[in-house]
Amino acid sequence: MIKKEETMNNVICKIEKSGNRYNAFSADGTKWTSEIGTGTRKRAFEQNMAIERRIGKNDRVYWWKVPMEKYFETEAPVVPDISSVDVPSDHAEVLNFIHSSYSLKPAGLMMTELKWKYLVRGAVRGKNIMMTGPAGCGKTMAAKAVVNSLDRPDFYFNLGATQDPRGTLIGNTHFDGKKGTYFSASLFVKAIQTPGAVILLDELSRAHPDAWNILMTVLDYGQRYLRLDEKDNSETVKVADGVTFVATANIGNEYTSTRVMDKALMDRFTIVEMDVLSEDDENSLLNYMFPHVDSGVLSSVAKIASLTRTESNSDTARIGSGISTRTTVELCGLLYDGFTLEEASEVSIYPQYDSTGGVDSERTFVKQIVQKFCDDGSSDDLFNEDEMAEAVEDNS
Ligand SMILES: Nc1ncnc2c1ncn2[C@@H]1O[C@H](COP(=O)(O)OP(=O)(O)OP(=O)(O)O)[C@@H](O)[C@H]1O
Ligand SMILES: [Mg+2]
Repeated sequence: MIKKEETMNNVICKIEKSGNRYNAFSADGTKWTSEIGTGTRKRAFEQNMAIERRIGKNDRVYWWKVPMEKYFETEAPVVPDISSVDVPSDHAEVLNFIHSSYSLKPAGLMMTELKWKYLVRGAVRGKNIMMTGPAGCGKTMAAKAVVNSLDRPDFYFNLGATQDPRGTLIGNTHFDGKKGTYFSASLFVKAIQTPGAVILLDELSRAHPDAWNILMTVLDYGQRYLRLDEKDNSETVKVADGVTFVATANIGNEYTSTRVMDKALMDRFTIVEMDVLSEDDENSLLNYMFPHVDSGVLSSVAKIASLTRTESNSDTARIGSGISTRTTVELCGLLYDGFTLEEASEVSIYPQYDSTGGVDSERTFVKQIVQKFCDDGSSDDLFNEDEMAEAVEDNS
């Protein structure tokens, strides 16, 4: 955090009205209210002017009204580069924490040490973190794991599931016969006012654009406030010190329900890209999770998933997406419960692939891959006869 002494020179404040109080904040979020006379603050607010801290004769400090633009000019340079202002003794502790943090990663979460440490580092340093990657690759799981590893208050919001961003992020106005109209703030308002909170914004990419707009100032390191109303001079709530946001987003994949996120919003985040697991890692994960399932079958599952992923990334891809880790885990759960690989594939994999186009369909293609691993004589009926005949014709 920036200390007041370090910014003593050239402090410029903007006044924000909160209830009947006029609060003064410099662009780095420091509150200067107590150092400025009430009248000065009120007048500046009413004239929509900023106030600058000046030193007069005999080192007397006074506050002088200046055009609002001057305030905005101070915004950019004070984006806190937290690492450069932190005291070294703390630094040793932070370093130590980050670099020994791999032991905090749950064994069931597959993630490289580097990515995990990068994620922890972002959280410790109060960055806004965005986990990206295709569906079912562990974004939510990793985000929750890092939140759990830190000994800090945490809050969870699923923005993909809410139809009412305003209600979720700001609050609702109610009417009561006795009290009249009153406003009840959302849990999110409480969350951002909790110092040191880690706030998970799950499925941000699927959120309503209104949610993105509301979050714009909250996530901006130079602003860090939430406006309770659209009106320009409406009440705002400051984001408390040390609050970390961890968002997840499906970006650059097949999901049509994923809206394309605004560039300005993306710019407010440090991106942590979740890797899609390699065949080996997938295999290790499945073996770790399902020690009682035949490891030969598990390695077939890992291989099937890997083949579909390679195919979906090739230039001549015949399928739009590979089988996700979420799906392989579900499928192995079925194997554990006594379903065969064909049965499990039929219910958990095939429905995800389009069957239109018959033999040329995505589904037929995936079935063919799975079939290679089911060839133990019991899988003759995987394809109906027409499909088989057509497939054979196709290949000749
Ligand atoms: N890297 C991984 N390590 C361990 N398990 C994983 C991993 N990725 C996915 N899984 C399994 O898949 C399930 C779904 O993962 P998760 O919900 O984190 O996916 P996601 O990336 O958030 O997907 P979506 O984009 O659909 O929200 C997990 O509960 C876990 O069982
Ligand atoms: Mg998720």
